[in-house]
Order: sequence, then structure tokens, then C-alpha cells
Amino acid sequence: MSEVISKEAVEEKITQNVLNSLEQTPDPRLKTIMTALISHLHGFVREVELTEAEWFYAIQFLTRVGQMCDDKRQEFILLSDTLGVSMLVDAINHPSNEGNTENTVFGPFYRGGAQELPLGANISQDGKGEPAVVRGRVLNTKGEPIANALLDVWETNENGLYEQQDPDQPDMNLRGKFHSDNQGIYYFVGIKPVSYGIPTDGPVGEMLRGTARHPFRPAHIHLLVSAEDYAPVTTHLFVRGDEYLGSDAVFGVKDSLIVDFVQNDSVEEAARYQLKAPFYTVEYDFILKPQ
Ligand code: BEZ
Ligand code: FE
Repeated sequence: MSEVISKEAVEEKITQNVLNSLEQTPDPRLKTIMTALISHLHGFVREVELTEAEWFYAIQFLTRVGQMCDDKRQEFILLSDTLGVSMLVDAINHPSNEGNTENTVFGPFYRGGAQELPLGANISQDGKGEPAVVRGRVLNTKGEPIANALLDVWETNENGLYEQQDPDQPDMNLRGKFHSDNQGIYYFVGIKPVSYGIPTDGPVGEMLRGTARHPFRPAHIHLLVSAEDYAPVTTHLFVRGDEYLGSDAVFGVKDSLIVDFVQNDSVEEAARYQLKAPFYTVEYDFILKPQ
């Protein structure tokens, strides 16, 4: 008579067989990652006692995430962001314990190839929204200016849409690249950002609705700040007072990145930026650490 093997032992054997199959993996890092991935994935399936219908739903869900991706839509980044994985990877890889500006999510709406613009230029091509002058310096962790640092910036229009989401906006609207001057000073004109909902017309929206989560992000401007010999920073400037600062759909808020957008009524100062008063100003120094 054959020995009766327990259900748990059968399950354990399956996991062990898969782990054993990794034995010859030549790349030690790949081996570590695959071993942990299989262990946690199998552990998860065991823990929730996943049904066949649930696993098939998960496969279809991930298939739809992939099918939703093209050169304008990146549903996998959105999934990573809304699950908090992007911020966890960021926290592991970019500790901000050396006085450098904190990183936050990159998000799916960056486009390379923004125009290089002179300091003070306006990135709004359609003049919509409330103008905001963003200015400050790029410094190293010793407080010394970094000349010729690159600030690649992007933000939504006043309707909460990035230009690639909105056929009514000019191509590359509200994007631009600026270089700090010899004293590390930078300044450009954008608009006071608005809070907006991340796209919910795909599987990520389905996940948010299923878990009773809202899709909103607090108002922010994105900046990618880089300079030779320094570690680049992918970051945001958030608007103090925004109602979603405490419940960002992608968990990206850090206190050090919340800034005051101050209303400025000076007609003379507005004229310097080819604006009409009132406009907003925000001051922020970016601090980079050596590479
Ligand atoms: C963004 O801020 O552009 C963004 C970040 C994560 C997910 C969706 C949008
Ligand atoms: Fe954004």
C-alpha cells in the first residue's frame, strides 16, 4: 500500500522542486532574486489559498495591464506606483540621509526630448493656468553652487492632464529643460499645479475601485535634476495645503518636498517674467550628492 502524503507535503514539494530547478543559475544575483520571488509567490498562493478562478483573474488582469501599454500609456508603472512598489524601490536605492534632495516617483508621464530653454522661459505654450515662477539654486551637499545642472521639468495643465493625454494641448506643452547658471541659480515659469486623478480607465482603475481607493495625486511639478559627477534626483515640488497630501494614490509625498506657492502682486516683477500680476512664486534649492 502506498504511503498517504499530506496536502501540505504535496504543496511543499512543488515549491521545493521549483527552487531546486534554480540550482544551476550562473548569475548569483539572478539566483537570489528568483529564489526569493518563487518563495514569496508560492507563500502568497498558499497563504490566501488562491482559487483557480482567482489565479485566472490575476493572469487576465496582468495581461490587460500589458495590453494597455503603448508609447503614451504605461499601465505597469501605474500598477507599480499604486501598489507602493515604486516608492519602496526608491527608498531602498535613494536614501536621503546625506542632506540631498529627496527622490520620489518618476511616474508614467515623462517624455524625453523636451526643448532646452533659456532661464526664465515659460513652459506653458497655451497660456492656460495660473502662472508660477519657480526659482532657486542647485547646490551640492557642502552648500556650494552647481553650475550647468540640468533641470528637466514637466507638469499637467490646469485641467489636470499631461499633454500626451490631451489632444487639445500643444505637443510637449508644460515641459522644458533648463540649466543652472554659474552661481547654481535656476528660474523658469510654469503654472501652479493642480491635483489630478491618475488614469482609471484600465485595470489599475479596477483595482482602485475594488479596494475603495481614490485615484488622486496632490498638485505637483515634476523635476529631474542632474549634473556631472552628481547623483541625479527624480523629484516633485508639492503645493502646501493640497487636500490630497495625506492620501496620494501613489504614496509619493515627502514633507521636505512640500513648498509654498506664494501669490505675488508686483506688476514690475511680473513684467520681468513677461507675466501679468498676480502670479505665484516658489523658491526651492535642490541639493545633489556626489555620484
Ligand atoms: C505622476 O505624477 O505623473 C504620476 C505618478 C505615478 C502614477 C501616475 C502619475
Ligand atoms: Fe504627475
